[in-house]
Amino acid sequence: MIDGKKVLFSGMQATGTLTLGNYLGALKNWVTLSEEYECFYSVVDLHSITVRQEPAELRKRARNLLTLYLAAGLDPQKNCIYYQSHVSGHAELSWILNCFTYMGELNRMTQFKDKAAKHADNINAGLFTYPVLMAADILLYQTDMVPVGVDQMQHLEITRDIAQRFNAIYGDVFTIPEAYIGKAGAKIMSLQNPQKKMSKSDENPNASIYLMDEPDVILRKFKRAVTDSEGQILYREEQPGIRNLLDIYCACTEKNPQEAVKEFEGKGYGELKEAVGETVVSLLKPVQDEFARLSKDKSYLDSIIKENAQKANYYATKTLRKVQKKVGFPERIR
Ligand code: TYM
Repeated sequence: MIDGKKVLFSGMQATGTLTLGNYLGALKNWVTLSEEYECFYSVVDLHSITVRQEPAELRKRARNLLTLYLAAGLDPQKNCIYYQSHVSGHAELSWILNCFTYMGELNRMTQFKDKAAKHADNINAGLFTYPVLMAADILLYQTDMVPVGVDQMQHLEITRDIAQRFNAIYGDVFTIPEAYIGKAGAKIMSLQNPQKKMSKSDENPNASIYLMDEPDVILRKFKRAVTDSEGQILYREEQPGIRNLLDIYCACTEKNPQEAVKEFEGKGYGELKEAVGETVVSLLKPVQDEFARLSKDKSYLDSIIKENAQKANYYATKTLRKVQKKVGFPERIR
């Protein structure tokens, strides 16, 4: 609890360009939850270097991502928006938690297996202990709630396991966090292969809607979206392409699938694709415009970055000192 409010933490990697999946699965919910909770939203650049990055490019992407958090509607006076690398407590707590995490647990992480297969030439220890750093992110702020897409659930579970293990040894040190998965949009699928999640790293640009895509590009990508030959707009497993389009529509409009199916009754796939495309365009346009405006305001962004890093450091240090004491590190002499 901070000032009587429950604490919320979430983060995104500054790797690649954000997709509609990131927006509907996470960012959009962050904005909705931001009034009710004391929120920490981090640009998780420490996580990004588990795969090779071009330094100048990473720096630029990290700043764009932070700007995008603001452009999406997060108020930086109320929400702590900061770079993970500006708060050294993340790395310090991560080390301690490494000593309370088993190799066997980390070996079971499906994201590790996927990434190791994808980057076979660089299966580094950071990639392996990635979930421990994520646990440190969350536990550092005594987080109650973590809004994420479905793909992060396994990492949330290991976070809870690590926290419970630590608490069982040292007493009530960490708050045990809960995942928050939005009703719609928790798993947006690729437009080219609706069996696969929409991902920043997809090689086919038609598979993902990027948040900065121009309206005509968005409409074109939806037009080309893979569907089926059933010819009926129904929300069911046998029609994953149509279901994904309806999911996107519902996540944007906050309607439920039954309402959406009713709305498109008797209509063709072409009409559905156009309607979904236009809905997405109108949802993203204000975010894109605000992003363009904020990007020009260097001194404002710099002041946000500085102030929020101080705030994050303050809360992070509080937990870190408590943990260091519990595990038996010598006290600091002031
Ligand atoms: P990242 O950067 O891959 O994704 C950021 C957020 O977007 C969600 N997401 C999706 N949601 C719906 N449909 C999709 N196709 C889709 N693709 C991505 C993700 O679930 C995530 O919520 N490890 C994390 C970042 C992280 C983090 C944390 C998150 C680091 N520390 C602590 C929460 C708490 C990641 O790589 O997310």
